[in-house]
Amino acid sequence: MKHFLSISDMNTTEIMELLQEADTFSRGEQWKTTEPVFVANLFYEPSTRTKCSFEIAERRLGLELLPFEIGNSSVLKGETLYDTIKTLQSIGVKLAVIRHKQDHYYEQLINHVDLSIVNGGDGSGQHPSQCLLDLLTIKQEFGYFNGLNVLIVGDIVHSRVARSNYEALRKLGANVKFSGPRDWFDPTFLQTDYIEINQGIKEADVVMLLRIQHERHEQSAQFSKADYHIQYGLTLEREQQMKQGSIIMHPGPVNRDVEIASELVEGKRSRIFKQMENGVFARMAILKTILQNEKVVC
Ligand code: NCD
Repeated sequence: MKHFLSISDMNTTEIMELLQEADTFSRGEQWKTTEPVFVANLFYEPSTRTKCSFEIAERRLGLELLPFEIGNSSVLKGETLYDTIKTLQSIGVKLAVIRHKQDHYYEQLINHVDLSIVNGGDGSGQHPSQCLLDLLTIKQEFGYFNGLNVLIVGDIVHSRVARSNYEALRKLGANVKFSGPRDWFDPTFLQTDYIEINQGIKEADVVMLLRIQHERHEQSAQFSKADYHIQYGLTLEREQQMKQGSIIMHPGPVNRDVEIASELVEGKRSRIFKQMENGVFARMAILKTILQNEKVVC
């Protein structure tokens, strides 16, 4: 694996191998590079969890992390993503984690640069490292994917998390359904995958909630926070209808009392903080796999 860009590029064997590696890290495996390898994280969109957990993963693997903040860089002087990456490559960076608002931003880079690219989220495209940590969390909980009912609720059309998870979970045999405002349902997904929220919640083993992606809406959302919560949020009443043993997930950042009742965020069913913990292990697995396969390190 040279790059880690999209779940669409991966088959189930590759996904399961990465999950196995991430699981091993979660059980305390230690692995460090034997020689200095320079990496940089370029976040053109805001991030807390993804950026910080990549940083922890990089440090735990012994990588040399270049401090790079878009707001203090030549991006502000008009430098393009392509020229920034070429610059970092010229000075010795071997791997870049990139988050960018443009869907498929990486296509302009991959045939023209030698360094490895890890997609930290592209617009409404994909978020494959989030997907891997979500899969790890589900696998730790249930031990399997085949036949599991996963309900993803919210701003589907704008969500890279929904897109990546939909693809990966379907490949692994899970039943994925969507709920939320009809207008935010992605028509490229099968129409039959849409389900009314109260029904969907009763059937689901995993209820995955999404933040409204306001930054990707052309017009501001037509709901007040309270309206959205009542119509499409995981309210305390809806949580009561969930199946025994079912869990709640959310990639974060959470807007309490909008997509989920505040009390449920740290409640018994919530795996939201477990997801964050697993983010480090998933990202260690991705980085290790690239570095070994590319023979950057042995
Ligand atoms: C998500 C993202 O950036 O796509 N967050 C994350 O990476 N943990 C979801 C979101 O921003 O709503």
